[in-house]
Amino acid sequence: MKAELFLRPAALGDGGALCAFLIALGTNNDHPGVLPMRRVPTAAGQDEWIQGYLDGGGHVLLLFDADRVLGCAELTVGKAPYRHHCAALGVSLLKEARGQGHGTTMMKALQAWAERQDGLERIQLEVFHTNPGAIRLYERLGYVHEGRRVGAIKHEGESIDMIQMSLAL
Ligand SMILES: CC(C)(COP(=O)(O)OP(=O)(O)OC[C@H]1O[C@@H](n2cnc3c(N)ncnc32)[C@H](O)[C@@H]1OP(=O)(O)O)[C@@H](O)C(=O)NCCC(=O)NCCS
Repeated sequence: MKAELFLRPAALGDGGALCAFLIALGTNNDHPGVLPMRRVPTAAGQDEWIQGYLDGGGHVLLLFDADRVLGCAELTVGKAPYRHHCAALGVSLLKEARGQGHGTTMMKALQAWAERQDGLERIQLEVFHTNPGAIRLYERLGYVHEGRRVGAIKHEGESIDMIQMSLAL
């Protein structure tokens, strides 16, 4: 990682930087793993989202270049008692930050956090079948294929399958 880049858990007050990240992620986007935003995010809304994780909902990591967020990765722990053993993973980086190992670093850091949580047994995720780069990353980190929801997504007339993957902790 370049010296000026750093990874840390999200904190209250990061909402504005996270908001700018989400807008940049959706601007001139041509990546198969990023769908257009449905509503413009707000700093307050993003701080509320972060608060949910600080209150026990999971863990959010942000990759910063000074005060600019370049990447976000989160684990969301299941709310219902019968889902407490599962955490759902999300990860995204701005275009300029991809292909340099940051995705790998963020995923490994999330896994390390998950391994420290009592009762957490699996990390699960869903990825579009049109996103082979992300699928390769997950496979490299030991995630296994579990299923496929055929045509679960329809975007601009294109039917996209959701590949389900997981990592046992
Ligand atoms: C999916 C995503 C998070 C992966 O993160 P990433 O940082 O690009 O992943 P990595 O850098 O760890 O690995 C990507 C590639 O870069 C290569 N790489 C890693 N470090 C590298 C380095 N220092 N120099 C050159 N290449 C490198 C890896 O070998 C890998 O190669 P591959 O594509 O042939 O498999 C990122 O591409 C992204 O944000 N995409 C848009 C959002 C998205 O799709 N999210 C997932 C939704 S399920």
